[in-house]
Amino acid sequence: MIGSGGREHALAWKLAQSPLLDTLYAAPGNPGVANCATLVPLDVTDHAAVVRFCGERSVELVVVGPEAPLVAGLGDDLRSAGIAVFGPSATAAQLEGSKGYTKDLCREADIPTAGYVRVTSLDAAIAALSPFSLPVVIKADGLAAGKGVTVAMDRAEAEAALAAIFEQPGGEAVIEEFLVGEEASLFVLTDGVSLLPFGSAQDHKRVGDGDVGPNTGGMGAYSPAPVLTPALERQAIDTIVAPTVAAMAKRGTPYSGVLYAGLMLTDRGPKLIEYNARFGDPECQVLMARLDSDLLPVLLAVAQGTLDQVAPPVFADDTALTVVMAATGYPGTSETGKPIGGIDAAEATGAIVFHAGTRSGDTGVVTAGGRVLAVTARGANVTAAQAAAYRAVDALDFPGFCRRDIGWREVAREAQ
Ligand code: AMP
Ligand code: GLY
Repeated sequence: MIGSGGREHALAWKLAQSPLLDTLYAAPGNPGVANCATLVPLDVTDHAAVVRFCGERSVELVVVGPEAPLVAGLGDDLRSAGIAVFGPSATAAQLEGSKGYTKDLCREADIPTAGYVRVTSLDAAIAALSPFSLPVVIKADGLAAGKGVTVAMDRAEAEAALAAIFEQPGGEAVIEEFLVGEEASLFVLTDGVSLLPFGSAQDHKRVGDGDVGPNTGGMGAYSPAPVLTPALERQAIDTIVAPTVAAMAKRGTPYSGVLYAGLMLTDRGPKLIEYNARFGDPECQVLMARLDSDLLPVLLAVAQGTLDQVAPPVFADDTALTVVMAATGYPGTSETGKPIGGIDAAEATGAIVFHAGTRSGDTGVVTAGGRVLAVTARGANVTAAQAAAYRAVDALDFPGFCRRDIGWREVAREAQ
């Protein structure tokens, strides 16, 4: 397994439970992953080194957690060496790597999404801005760890966001219509031909309680997201995900891996906000916490192109909810090297504490990134799972902050 975040700890935790697993290596992993896998200090940007390692150890499947190695073509290099990979090719990962690529594909395949214009210079961008009503959404084209999006409330803010994107030579941006509705994340496994729905979740992208402040990689999530009803999920698969998979195959660049559709549930049906080419972080933590069946055979089937032959996943019918513990300063410059206490006490409440930005210090685990832990608990509904997760959070001695309202939309609905 490639990666070192909370998503990867959740994947490793689940893979380690598979009776089919012989040895799980994780590169580079983190102190939490070290409890489920053998850590390997590989530089994952050195594809030749990763391929060599897999050859030496007869690795039969590589699971790529994050987007950056996918966009950089690690999957292609491994597959060229005859090694099975869970994760798309570099070309197919453009569905995440380039907002413009995805918007053009949506136009081509008639997939519901926000109206948009792609621009490659500040002058063109300012000119293209005028027909859009406010608020308007400005997106940098490339990977931005969830931080490349500005929802501009007025023209000055939109122009400032565009100016920032075009400060660097070679900047590219997408200007988008603002969609109104509630967001939900849908996960679908595909081997390029077959589709296997793999659960839903709702993320909390803003840093502050009540969804205020800057966007982050995600401050907490729960699964399933009841707002994505079975009928809406079917509609999203039929009108968004299936046509995408078909269009990618038709282009000769089939998409294989997990397709994470960020959806806006508008009053005219689900619309695509964005695709990600990997599991969400922290959505993966709540999916794995609820997955009762074995993860390994489905990932292997995706990699081998035999997804139509595997049993569908079985998810528990309760709710999992995760709260991200973030370092002081996040999503700006985060304070690191601070000791973290109480992880055992938090887990003693029945929660699972997934590690993200942690490392082993001289006297224990210390902070080493913006998002540090994902405290994950289950309950009969969102209200119960939220209470359980915050009981665990309160048992931590944590040098940073978290949101206190993860799940608030559904908690409010459950109270009705
Ligand atoms: P993205 O990185 O594309 O997921 O955008 C980050 C966040 O910005 C999304 O989760 C939404 O909350 C918001 N967002 C992005 N695009 C739009 C849009 N067209 N309309 C409304 N909100 C959006
Ligand atoms: N939590 C949002 C993401 O993984 O992109």
